[in-house]
Amino acid sequence: SNGADPIDAQIAISNQNARIEGDNAEDWHHNALSVVVVGASGDLAKKKIFPALFAIFYEGMMPKHFNIYGFARSNMSDDEFRDLIAASLTCRVDQKEDCGDKMEYFLDRCFYQPGQYGSEEDFKKLSDRMTETEQHQNKADRVFYLSIPPSIFTQVAGAASKGASSPSGWTRVIVEKPFGKDTESFNKLSADLYQHLSEEQMYRIDHYLGKELIENLTVLRFANLVFEPLWSRQFIRNVQVIFSENFGTEGRGGYFDSYGIIRDVLQNHLLQIVSLFAMETPTSLAAEDIRDEKVKVLRNMLPINMDDVVIGQYKGRNKHGVKKPGYLDDKTVPAGSRCPTFCAMAMFINNSRWDGVPFLLKAGKALKSRTAEIRVQFRHVPGNLYSAKLNQDLDRAANELVIKIQPDEGIYLKINNKLPGLGLTLDQTKLDLSYSSRYKTHLPDAYERLILDVINGDKRLFIRNDELEAAWKLFTPVLQEIENREMKPELYPYGSRGPVGAHYLAAKYGVRWG
Ligand code: NDP
Ligand code: BG6
Repeated sequence: SNGADPIDAQIAISNQNARIEGDNAEDWHHNALSVVVVGASGDLAKKKIFPALFAIFYEGMMPKHFNIYGFARSNMSDDEFRDLIAASLTCRVDQKEDCGDKMEYFLDRCFYQPGQYGSEEDFKKLSDRMTETEQHQNKADRVFYLSIPPSIFTQVAGAASKGASSPSGWTRVIVEKPFGKDTESFNKLSADLYQHLSEEQMYRIDHYLGKELIENLTVLRFANLVFEPLWSRQFIRNVQVIFSENFGTEGRGGYFDSYGIIRDVLQNHLLQIVSLFAMETPTSLAAEDIRDEKVKVLRNMLPINMDDVVIGQYKGRNKHGVKKPGYLDDKTVPAGSRCPTFCAMAMFINNSRWDGVPFLLKAGKALKSRTAEIRVQFRHVPGNLYSAKLNQDLDRAANELVIKIQPDEGIYLKINNKLPGLGLTLDQTKLDLSYSSRYKTHLPDAYERLILDVINGDKRLFIRNDELEAAWKLFTPVLQEIENREMKPELYPYGSRGPVGAHYLAAKYGVRWG
């Protein structure tokens, strides 16, 4: 062996293909690309978008003639803007050598244009500046990333499309969540956006779809013979989709309070996972084929029963002298707010594959750990020959497939195995694929994959309007019920496992949370 891990070489080739397999391979070399981040002074832009854009460039995936533009109301010079971005850029651990040079090259291609969000004039000024950097190419393609509060999505879409659409190439717009607060506001937002943008131009982002293990979910199901035959009510007892964070809403309380955990996480990230998990085999990997199957799952879901919903809110905790604030201690949260920071619910898909199988969704802030995972609990072995030899009850000894989305990405299958030795006792253990031991490579951030897909015109990992329509149809009655009845969330201490009610809910379906 020459010391190089062959899997690293395969990953490098696979990454190369991501670039040249795109529909517009020719455009990579010949067209100018301008990426505009609207709301460039904001949190998401700094934390995720600029680092992702740099990573795409760093990995050699950015078209040759690219430029990045920031747009927001704050006054900044290009240099101040570059300083702001530079602070958040990082290089891949494994390729540090030319990091400084690449950063400098990237920053030289970043520009800032201050302006008012609703002003066509200001977007025209931006467009004039873009034209200067685009003029040596025949065609110029433009991406607008709307990293701004949803209250101004429409006015920006209007002003930007009138003032700064590309005169020669395509113009695509990335829209961040939340897409409305309920069916009514979603319909309005959607109709308003369609006045300025076509469906083809719009990329509605759900960054969970850009996570490595989520993209792998369909590979696991459809490229392995051993899972798909088991993927139904016949063998699966329940499915859990779990999201937890070990920090509260500190700092984002203002935004959070008018949405709550159901809109913030369940309605989008977790529901998207369920639809990918449960969908039928799509006709092909084309975006429309996949989204056709996902939306069928959402339309097949039964209305959510309020008896199957538990909401919670975290309260302060003082443990071993370490004080943690409650949700209501956040200065940006209105006094006495009943906004849920935790929710667990059972959902059912009313089709022949999933009839009767509980899909248990759970999401919460300020819990014990930060994790996101899918747990698939299988039925127990009927007439198990070894039932007397198990050191667990039958349900606990049943197989379980765990897809660990983050952290410590991996997939494992819990199996029963004989304890080695002269005795005959079974041991519950794991067939374990841990990404960090199998693949030494750095996993790309979700935003890297998704922005690259926008540049490539690939909508597989973006949300179609009808998916959102179906998602809001499911969640609007629940949200109305909670808000109209002013339901009181069950309090749970910061850093705990969440409200006790969630355990009762699971127990009702014979489930113990994994
Ligand atoms: P910010 O609140 O940081 O807002 C972004 C920028 O918008 C600000 O820098 C500000 O720029 C401008 N702005 C803020 N409030 C207003 C207002 N009321 N009217 C006009 N302009 C305003 O948002 P984030 O960066 O946190 O989020 C951007 C988008 O991404 C939102 O839609 C959010 O829901 C979504 N998102 C954010 C995540 C995060 O982790 N932050 C995660 C997932 C989604 P200026 O004053 O300079 O014009
Ligand atoms: C965002 C939510 O969509 O996802 C946040 O608005 C949440 O509240 C975040 O913290 C979690 O994303 P990740 O990628 O850190 O798990």
